[in-house]
Amino acid sequence: MFHNSASLIVSLGLASILSTSAKEVGYPPCDALIDAGLGNRLLLATSAAYEGRVKSWWSANARLRPWCFFQPLNTEEVSKGVKALAASGFGAGDWHIAVRSGGHGPAGSNNIANGVTIDLGMMNSSSYDSETKLASVEPGARWADVYRNLLYKHRITVTGGRDGDVGVGGFLLGGGNSYFTGRNGFGCDTVVNFEVVLADGEVVNANSKENSDLWKALKGGALNFGIVTRFDLEPTPVVDLAFGERIVTTDHTDEVIDAIVEFTDASETRRADSMFAAIVHDASTSPAAIILIIKANSEGNLNTTSFDKINNIPTVSQDWRHKSIADIGNENQLEPGTRNVGVTLTFQNDKSILRQCASYYEQLVSILSDKVGANNFTAQMFFQPLPKFLGEIGKSKGGNVMGLDRMISNGILWTAGVSIKSGDDAALELARAELTAMAAELKAIAKKDGKLQDLVYLNYAEGQQDPLGSYGKENVDFLRKVAQRYDPDEWWQRRVPGGFKLSRVGGNL
Ligand SMILES: Cc1cc2nc3c(=O)[nH]c(=O)nc-3n(C[C@H](O)[C@H](O)[C@H](O)COP(=O)(O)OP(=O)(O)OC[C@H]3O[C@@H](n4cnc5c(N)ncnc54)[C@H](O)[C@@H]3O)c2cc1C
Ligand SMILES: *[C@@H]1O[C@H](CO)[C@@H](O)[C@H](O)[C@H]1NC(C)=O
Ligand SMILES: *[C@@H]1O[C@H](CO)[C@@H](O)[C@H](O)[C@H]1NC(C)=O
Ligand SMILES: *[C@@H]1O[C@H](CO)[C@@H](O)[C@H](O)[C@H]1NC(C)=O
Repeated sequence: MFHNSASLIVSLGLASILSTSAKEVGYPPCDALIDAGLGNRLLLATSAAYEGRVKSWWSANARLRPWCFFQPLNTEEVSKGVKALAASGFGAGDWHIAVRSGGHGPAGSNNIANGVTIDLGMMNSSSYDSETKLASVEPGARWADVYRNLLYKHRITVTGGRDGDVGVGGFLLGGGNSYFTGRNGFGCDTVVNFEVVLADGEVVNANSKENSDLWKALKGGALNFGIVTRFDLEPTPVVDLAFGERIVTTDHTDEVIDAIVEFTDASETRRADSMFAAIVHDASTSPAAIILIIKANSEGNLNTTSFDKINNIPTVSQDWRHKSIADIGNENQLEPGTRNVGVTLTFQNDKSILRQCASYYEQLVSILSDKVGANNFTAQMFFQPLPKFLGEIGKSKGGNVMGLDRMISNGILWTAGVSIKSGDDAALELARAELTAMAAELKAIAKKDGKLQDLVYLNYAEGQQDPLGSYGKENVDFLRKVAQRYDPDEWWQRRVPGGFKLSRVGGNL
C-alpha cells in the first residue's frame, strides 16, 4: 500500500504539473479535489464565502484557516473526495485533513491550518420515515434545526443535544448527553444505522446485522474509522417538556450539591427527569458567580416531585413550564466567539468530592482574575448526573464502547471550562494550564479517596486527556481490532490527526 501510494503520488504530481490546468491552486489536497471534479465544492481563501465560514466555528481558537474547505453535498461526493485525497498519498508534502460537522468540538479536533477541512455543513437535512419508524439525520445539521424539522413535519423527536447550535456528527460519535438520556441512553445508543465512508471511499452501513462491529465502535469511538454521512435514529414521541431554570447564589453551593447527589441516586426510577447544575462566573454580572440549575421532565409532567429538594433552595429567579424541544434548543445556545478550554472527569456520586470541586473551582477563578484579568474571562463548572443504569440501557441497545457497564456506582460527570472574552492566546494557554492543573489535583484526591470513576467523557475532554483509554482495555482492544479491519492502512490515524485517536491512547490527564 505504501509503495503503491508513493508511486501514485509521483504520477499524480507529474500529471498535475503537465496538465497545467488553469484551475489548479497549488495546494496538493485542494488540487486533488479539483482534479476529481469537485472544484465547485471548494472554498478557497479568495472565495467570497471563506471568511464567513471560518467564523462559523464555535470557539474563536478553533477558527483556523485551511488551504481550502471541501463542502460536499452528499455521500457520493464525500466518497469521491476521500478517494481523491487518499490517492494523493501519505507524506506528500506537509499537509493534513480535518473533518467538521457542527464545529463545536475543541480547537484542533475539527479544523486544520495546513491542509483541507472537510466541512459537512451542507449535509444538514433531517427526515422521518413513518414506515421504518426511523429518523435520518445528516451530520452537518444543528440540533435546533433537527428538532424544528422533525417536530413540525413529523411530530417526533430524537435524543440530541441540549444546546441547539451543537452539531449532529460530533455529538453522536462521542456519546451524546441529552434531556432524553435517562429514557433512551446516550444519543449514540439510539443510532440504529450509520452510513459511513471508509478510507478507501467505500460506502458501508453499520447496524446490528451489517458490520455490527463498526456499529458498536462508532458509538463513542469518534473519528477513527470513517466519516459518517447519515445517522438513522430511533425516534422519541414528542410532547412539550416540563422545563425550567433556577438561579441560586453560591451561598447555597453545598445544598445544591446535596440535591444533585440525591437526585442522581433517585434517577433510576425517575427516568423522564433530568437536572444538572453549573456554577457560572462572570465578573461583568452582579453577582459575579451564580449557580444555574436546569431541570426537565421529558414527559411534560409539571408535577414531578424529583426537583422538590432543589426547589426548596431560595432562588434569585426561576421558571418552570411547558416548552417544546425545538424552543429549548433554540433558546439555549451558548454564545460563540470566545477562546475556550474545558476539561472533564467522572466522580462517584459523593458530596465530599463535589464540595472539593467547588472549592478548587473558586480558587481557579481567583487565580485567573489575577493572572488574566477579572473582566477578560468567564468560567463554568458543571455537575451532571451519570447514573450507572445508563450502562445497562446502552447494553440493551447493542452496546457502545464507553465502558459505562464498568461503573462501580452512580457517578457525576464533572466539567470545568474557561472562556477568554478578551485577551490573547497567551491568556488562553494560561487558563489551560491552571484548569488542567486543577483537574489533575482533583483527580489525585478522588483517586486516593476511592471516589474516581474511569470515564473521561469524550465530548467534554481536553486534548491532553485520554477518553478512549478511559473506556477500558477491553473496549480499546476491540476498537483497535475494528480499526484494523476497516482502516488497515491507518489512514484516519495518519492523515486526519484531529480529535481523539486510537494511535494516541494514553494521555497524561
Ligand atoms: C456550547 C456547547 C454545548 C454542548 N452541549 C452538549 C450536550 O448537551 N451534551 C453533550 O453530550 N455534549 C455537548 N457538547 C459537546 C459536544 O457534543 C461536542 O463538542 C461535539 O463534538 C460537537 O459536535 P459537532 O458536530 O458540533 O462538532 P465538530 O467540532 O464538528 O466535530 C467534533 C469531532 O467529531 C468529528 N466528526 C464530526 N463529524 C463527523 C462525522 N460525520 N464523521 C466522523 N467524524 C466526525 C470531528 O472531526 C471532530 O473531531 C456541547 C458543546 C458545546 C460547545
Ligand atoms: C444546509 O445545507 C444547504 C445545502 O445543502 C445550504 O444551502 C444551507 O446553507 C445549509 N444550512 C445551514 C444552516 O448551514
Ligand atoms: C398536575 O397538577 C395539576 C394541578 O394539581 C393537575 O391539574 C394536573 O392534572 C397534574 N398533571 C399531571 C400530569 O399529573
Ligand atoms: C485583559 O485584556 C485586555 C485586552 O486584551 C488587556 O489589555 C489586559 O491587560 C488584560 N488584563 C490582564 C490583567 O491581563
